[in-house]
Amino acid sequence: MSFPETRLRRLRQSPAVRGLVRETSVEPRQLVLPLFIREGLTEPVAIGSMPGVQQHSLDSLRAAAVEAADAGVGGVMLFGVPAVRDARGSGADDPCGILNIATEALAAEVGDALVVQTDLCLDEFTDHGHCGVLAADGAVDNDATLERYAAMALAQARAGSQLLGLSGMMDGQVAVIRAALDAEGFTDTLLLAYAAKYASAFYGPFREAVDSQLTGDRRTYQLDPGNRREGVREAVIDEAEGADIVMVKPAMAFLDVLREVRDTVGIPVWAYQVSGEYAMIEAASANGWIDRRAAILESLLSIRRAGADAVLTYWATEAAHWLRD
Ligand code: PBG
Repeated sequence: MSFPETRLRRLRQSPAVRGLVRETSVEPRQLVLPLFIREGLTEPVAIGSMPGVQQHSLDSLRAAAVEAADAGVGGVMLFGVPAVRDARGSGADDPCGILNIATEALAAEVGDALVVQTDLCLDEFTDHGHCGVLAADGAVDNDATLERYAAMALAQARAGSQLLGLSGMMDGQVAVIRAALDAEGFTDTLLLAYAAKYASAFYGPFREAVDSQLTGDRRTYQLDPGNRREGVREAVIDEAEGADIVMVKPAMAFLDVLREVRDTVGIPVWAYQVSGEYAMIEAASANGWIDRRAAILESLLSIRRAGADAVLTYWATEAAHWLRD
């Protein structure tokens, strides 16, 4: 038996050797926990398609954020579910809107321990469920939406959000929001641009989580899942417009895009492990078809390996506990 003496199995012979040569790891500080706050709740409400995830009341939201901070999680990303919606999404930039009230509460409670972040998009606040306002013909009006985003950005920054997640996929959103913030002195407010956000089937459970009013789809503004180069272009443009961080979303079905974006831009790149990714692993685990903990940790490791500096994941707190053990 002779073959070139390149024996890669030497590197795998024991846990200690494997530990020394492991290329990628996941740390709690690299995880961000998405949280849902629903107006009017006194008790949290379970989300059927996302077992273990809840729509929070203000009290349970605070508790979840404290738990995440204690576990060493790097940040929380807040989504608001208002009681009343209208065509322009008025609740989004109302200082008394549920998302802004909750942001204030979390900034006071955990703002020093982790980064309090807010989703900046109109879809939870509009009665038609689109991420922007509509023109007379029913199309999503890009430039009119930018004005709403600028107002929303100021409301969120005033409420104490340290990082705004621009998830609406309107052209020019990063530049317009950066200018609006700077003009009011919010030069330290970070912008995370959802650069490559695809029109994905894996958002299904999220739409239950935020009680989405959408009929139809978002294909005129979110990316076509077949397009990798276009995803990279979005990231390059967002970096040039002044984004501090860019996002690829969803994560696992778009790891190739994630890698290419990571290799192309100079700024941090994050990925969002979305509701459908969560639901699939939870459902398979509940059936006994997969080792839940191992599958969750492997999924996070894979997203990191593909190039994500940080990951938004509904498992952030639980995974952080495991990673610390
Ligand atoms: C829209 C938004 C979506 C998600 C977060 N913000 C998707 C959408 O409805 O298009 C999805 C997150 C998830 O699925 O976990 N602003």
